[in-house]
Amino acid sequence: MTTLHFAHLTDIHITHKQTWWGSMGELPERLLVETIDQLNAIPDLDFVLITGDVIDGSTEAEIDHFNDLLARLKTPWHFVPGNHDGFIDPAHPDALPPAEAVARIDRRFTPATAGIQQAYFSREAGAGVRLIGLDSRRSEDWSGEIGPAQFEWLESELDASGDDCVIVALHHPLHNLDAINTREWWSNFICDNGAEVEALLDHYPQAKLVISGHHHAQQIRRRGGRLHVCTGALTGYPCVYRLIRVSTGGEGCHMAISTHSPADEEALKINYDLMLEASVSRDYNPEDGTAWARFVAGEDGDQSFEGVL
Ligand SMILES: [Fe+2]
Ligand SMILES: [Fe+2]
Repeated sequence: MTTLHFAHLTDIHITHKQTWWGSMGELPERLLVETIDQLNAIPDLDFVLITGDVIDGSTEAEIDHFNDLLARLKTPWHFVPGNHDGFIDPAHPDALPPAEAVARIDRRFTPATAGIQQAYFSREAGAGVRLIGLDSRRSEDWSGEIGPAQFEWLESELDASGDDCVIVALHHPLHNLDAINTREWWSNFICDNGAEVEALLDHYPQAKLVISGHHHAQQIRRRGGRLHVCTGALTGYPCVYRLIRVSTGGEGCHMAISTHSPADEEALKINYDLMLEASVSRDYNPEDGTAWARFVAGEDGDQSFEGVL
């Protein structure tokens, strides 16, 4: 019997720029530090999983600042990259390109192995539990995909995983979280070929859990024999992280998931008010500016789960 206890953090968007996230001043870093302090106080926490967008403007200074903050964390951590973790944009000449940025965030990668679609990995997270990290970044836009070479690699890793319980982590969710994801622009929140990846995973019943971020929304769904967990942004409303306990060795794989927040009432209100002002809220529902906030916060069933898969 193996029990693994880990935290899932995503979309931290540490920045020095006066962008939307920058308008919060030091609040994002305060929320990250508070989260790390809460995690450090959990005696049996095995690791932390971070599913991308740890910075916002992709500058060297942002990455170094994020690394300094993360250095407080006492447990090992795993990282899959998001679309903000390095990019090329003439409007942001000080942004590090994807390969350089990701290699600077996670030294297990080098610039030669951290390029778009290349920063993937397969690691033993604990006895009988395999963590597969995918790199869903695209060079064309902020949408996601798993390209042919990585897809082939994923299939071979799943073939080799035997009876291990497999956890797949990637920045972009594999399936639409909402009907709006079928629309232009909103489809960028989802992995373009997520349906193909799911069809592949369907052949491997040992793949029990898919964990993602990017949509900045809380959602938990059973799909096939798997649980798909999308976690809201740590430093934007609803300011959350998850604790996940996976136990193997009995009948199936027992999973317990809970949601936590580093934000006090004041910090949450700042984030909520900012969200109501954001254009994404108006676009989501022009008649009801609070609808997007409700969607990203999720319902009761999106906050926790306990069951056997
Ligand atoms: Fe993000
Ligand atoms: Fe993202």
